[in-house]
Amino acid sequence: EQIEKGGYEHFMLKEIYEQPQAIKDTYRGRLRADDGIIKMAGMEDHMEKFVHADRILIAACGTSWHAGLVAEYIFEDLTRTPVEVEYASEFRYRNPVITEKDVLIVISQSGETADTLAAIKLAREKGAFVFGVCNVVGSSIARESHAGAYTHAGPEIGVASTKAFTTQITVLTLMALKLAAAKGTISRTELQRYLTEMEAVPDKVEQCLQINEHVKYIASLYQEAPNCLYLGRGYNFPVALEGALKLKEISYIHAEGYPAAEMKHGPIALIDEQMPVVVIATRYGHYEKVVSNIQEIKSRKGKIIAVVMEGDTTVSEIADHVIEVPEITETLSPLITTIPLQLLSYHIAVMRGCNVDQPRNLAKSVTVE
Ligand code: G6P
Repeated sequence: EQIEKGGYEHFMLKEIYEQPQAIKDTYRGRLRADDGIIKMAGMEDHMEKFVHADRILIAACGTSWHAGLVAEYIFEDLTRTPVEVEYASEFRYRNPVITEKDVLIVISQSGETADTLAAIKLAREKGAFVFGVCNVVGSSIARESHAGAYTHAGPEIGVASTKAFTTQITVLTLMALKLAAAKGTISRTELQRYLTEMEAVPDKVEQCLQINEHVKYIASLYQEAPNCLYLGRGYNFPVALEGALKLKEISYIHAEGYPAAEMKHGPIALIDEQMPVVVIATRYGHYEKVVSNIQEIKSRKGKIIAVVMEGDTTVSEIADHVIEVPEITETLSPLITTIPLQLLSYHIAVMRGCNVDQPRNLAKSVTVE
């Protein structure tokens, strides 16, 4: 096992560090930025289904569901096709409206999650086209879908999903770009620009990994916290959910993710000097609004850990701690902002003496209801 861990203390840490390569492996052979070409055989063979779909439904569980939420922002923004994201476990039991003009995308690392498999069965019965995004080659979900695309993340051993999440987002982004190009909702120049930015992601993830010691220091200050709140907006709202899930899964600290603006409808009541609040405060459209959320937290004495973009000065002045990540276009930003949150939860869990790779009560793959 020590050899398999490749010198890392835990599989989770190894898998966090594998992300630059895993993301590269996911897009390698699929994109040609110069020509604005994305090759994905599973999609090409059924392009008409995607182009003429009334809706895209996405069903998944856990971290894969969070990747689905990110995909909702990306698909709607780039392709203008309406998207609905569902917990597979709810979808299968609520008599959902599904037609032959719907495309269902299922997302699963293991390809064996029982509820996700059941969602496929239901959608197929109603005549929808099912596309699987899986990591495990030849898995049940890969076999039961009409077509699909693998994430090529390599084996993920740690129960808390890390590289599966970022590679899922990579595949889903390529899919959205490919559909957008086919529908003509983005220009060729825009497509080329996105693909060039995608090729820069692995180096940017690498840069995030280089601030590990700083994140570890922040972890040491908050390892005893009983609760933690994560806030983000837009594309980074699902990143906040995923950050909170990661922390609660492996450190057993109660954590909640919220869209930043929704804070005043509940979580703000919890804020006092004991409450660390992780805020993703990247410089996009709603930046000023997130800054005012940070001020509200500050005035209630909450402790702010802000993930900001390089060179940020506004948030740095108010936050208790800042974690700087490289500049990137908003569409691809979840691939970057997620990294420090993975490291933060990892270090807190290690400091609390938790079994990081095999947290209590959790399974890598949930094959029963
Ligand atoms: C379990 C795992 C999670 C995973 C979820 C969905 O809860 O512990 O890490 O996100 O199942 O699994 P899947 O294999 O379908 O992505």
